[in-house]
Amino acid sequence: MKIIDLSSEYETLYFQCLEDWSEEIREAGDHRARWYEKYRSRGLRAKLALDDSGTVGGMIQYLPIEHAFAAGRNLYMILCIWVHGYKQGRGNFQKQGMGKALLSAAEADAKERGAKGMAAWGILLPFWMKASWFKKQGYSKADRDSIRVLLWKKFTEDATPPSWIRRKKVPAPCPGTVTVTCFKNGWCPVQNLAFERAQKACAELGDAVIFREVDTSDRETFLEWGIADGLFINGKEMGIGPPPSYQKIKKQIMKQLKKL
Ligand SMILES: CC(C)(COP(=O)(O)OP(=O)(O)OC[C@H]1O[C@@H](n2cnc3c(N)ncnc32)[C@H](O)[C@@H]1OP(=O)(O)O)[C@@H](O)C(=O)NCCC(=O)NCCS
Repeated sequence: MKIIDLSSEYETLYFQCLEDWSEEIREAGDHRARWYEKYRSRGLRAKLALDDSGTVGGMIQYLPIEHAFAAGRNLYMILCIWVHGYKQGRGNFQKQGMGKALLSAAEADAKERGAKGMAAWGILLPFWMKASWFKKQGYSKADRDSIRVLLWKKFTEDATPPSWIRRKKVPAPCPGTVTVTCFKNGWCPVQNLAFERAQKACAELGDAVIFREVDTSDRETFLEWGIADGLFINGKEMGIGPPPSYQKIKKQIMKQLKKL
């Protein structure tokens, strides 16, 4: 196995989170590619893990925390680490050491670039990006917001811990309409998929439904709201987790339309 920097030949695969077999990933549009172009100049780094036959099985992406959705100084933050675990497509590469190798390569790279530590996020549930996995790799809790845990590992004694940037407000409903507001940073296909589905549902439901996009790749906009990604219907958030189906989003909007 070897770890390499993301190169142009693998960009499309990276935009698809290695899930080139997935219809849903295709439905998520080109937001990730556009995000990548924007964030490269902000110091975004990405690495891939290749097995002995040269097949890509894992990826990690991280960037200076000053451009991420947490507050901190002189740290890098991991947006996500993903070792392909599905049977489909390239198959399951988990538990063969790729995750550990990706993390340690990212840490070495961040150190070389002068970072004083690495931050990461995880959730307190036993699936998705598990906070417990980072703890096992030597990370400790710096902050918590509901089930989202912010973890970090310091490289130098004078490093200061990161903290969450918390929600400052939620979108206000607009009387006489159903307002669907989608906060989108672009980094995560799951949120990009929710965006695409919500936009499509709104376009089909007529003039009483207003679709609003909040582009949180603009730092000022993100700081104004304290929300990087999220979908709100009349000010009420559709929960975090797997992306809601198109039918579910449409049903929720129609429910609100009936109340007008
Ligand atoms: C967490 C993850 C990165 C680990 O990668 P991996 O290649 O499977 O792990 P490794 O083989 O390098 O193992 C590293 C350690 O983690 C442990 N580990 C691996 N998978 C684990 C799991 N599912 N639960 C608990 N521990 C696990 C291994 O036992 C090993 O422990 P050790 O340090 O004591 O030897 C990978 O399982 C993954 O991608 N999970 C999904 C994360 C996710 O949802 N990412 C998307 C975010 S947008």
